[in-house]
Amino acid sequence: MPTERTSIHGQWSNRLAFILAATGSAVGLGNIWKFPYIAGENGGGAFVLVYLLCIAVIGIPIMMAEVMLGRRGRQSPINTMRTLAYEEKVSPAWRWLGWAGVLAGFLILSYYSVIAGWALAYVFRAGSGLFTGLTADGVQSIFSNLVDEPERLLAWHTIFMVMTMIIVGRGVRSGLERAVRLLMPALFVLLLVLVGYAWNTDAFDQGLEFLFTPDFGAITANGVLIAMGHAFFTLSLGMGAIMVYGSYLPDNASIAKTSVTVSLMDTTVALLAGMAIFPIVFANGLEPGAGPGLIFQTLPIAFGHMDGGAFFGMLFFLLLVFAAWTSAISLIEPAVAWLVENHGMSRIYAAALAGMVTWGTGLLTVFSFNLWADFKPLGMFAVFEGYTIFDLLDYLTANIMLPLGGLLIAVFAAWQMRRESSVEELAMGDGFLYGLWRMLVRYITPVAVIIVFLHAIGVL
Ligand code: PHE
Repeated sequence: MPTERTSIHGQWSNRLAFILAATGSAVGLGNIWKFPYIAGENGGGAFVLVYLLCIAVIGIPIMMAEVMLGRRGRQSPINTMRTLAYEEKVSPAWRWLGWAGVLAGFLILSYYSVIAGWALAYVFRAGSGLFTGLTADGVQSIFSNLVDEPERLLAWHTIFMVMTMIIVGRGVRSGLERAVRLLMPALFVLLLVLVGYAWNTDAFDQGLEFLFTPDFGAITANGVLIAMGHAFFTLSLGMGAIMVYGSYLPDNASIAKTSVTVSLMDTTVALLAGMAIFPIVFANGLEPGAGPGLIFQTLPIAFGHMDGGAFFGMLFFLLLVFAAWTSAISLIEPAVAWLVENHGMSRIYAAALAGMVTWGTGLLTVFSFNLWADFKPLGMFAVFEGYTIFDLLDYLTANIMLPLGGLLIAVFAAWQMRRESSVEELAMGDGFLYGLWRMLVRYITPVAVIIVFLHAIGVL
């Protein structure tokens, strides 16, 4: 019986441990670095509304589906998909979904690690008091100094990848649970401190208005795709990270409650980050659409002007590094679990191998900010005008691969798997809530993803 299967990689000690790990995966650069800058680039309020809608209607149901598949299969996503396809008597080709996820994870981590490297660099810049009293221009030049130098970015990227490989090599359970339990709340408190600072600027209202008053004229079809893609990205969905964590979930834990909790925490962190950043943007006459450097060009102004700013700044970037770390681990875990299962490798060896490939791919991103900053490979297409290799990697993974992966997960969970199997695994009975989940995953989610895709390429 599937429910008696256990994972060879171990299990979370309880439901709380899973919630912490999944929240660790979900909360990361996506919430604090990416959400504000893409909201800024896509006009604010309307974008945020679409994003929130996608979290509720697409994100939560797919998270449940992904955790459910993982727990039922109890292996790496590739082997889980193979086993479940066999048990449900459907095409073995479903294992390719696992592979696509592994590829997406590699590509995402390759640039994720470079950005996490920026945060790491900022721990030291903040701690040394470099931001004290700085104006927007000063902060801007500190940022350029960092990203203009390929060697610097490479060094930080390397350090972050090594940190990730060490934890993954030791096994996701040891250390991770405890770290997340302590650091997530700390990050939360610091975000509140920043929102407090933003409150005291004279542009708090303007910031909130930008973030929460929808102006539908300001969002394009492509913006809608970016908002949807971000719902997947920020919840770590569509590539197997949540599936592999689900495979370590104890049998008696409620999948629905867990998924809702994780999604709520993730969304709260993103909104707080937005509420801290946009008032600072407007109070200092900065551009909301400044791009990937946005938080690195705004938050230092806040730290430079508050009491104890050097300390708080250092702590904030340190916590950001931790948040990125716990996400990075989950990006590579599906690949590592597979290497251990199918090639009998030790975790350390598997982590080193997977990490090295990712590290190498990361060079594409490192150079996108300096040597190749003017190289726009798909610049001839209007949507990709001005996109560097990094922008393209981000677009391909977050806006195409993850939604597509999520779509297929939904199709598998609601169309290929027998109803009895999902009723049994979700263990929430066969009543209204189960019916709602099934309806969402069977019809709404796939149709929504397809419509957004077609709309973005101009077919609809
Ligand atoms: N959810 C993470 C973040 O918001 C990124 C991530 C994406 C992690 C996909 C795992 C899988 O930073």
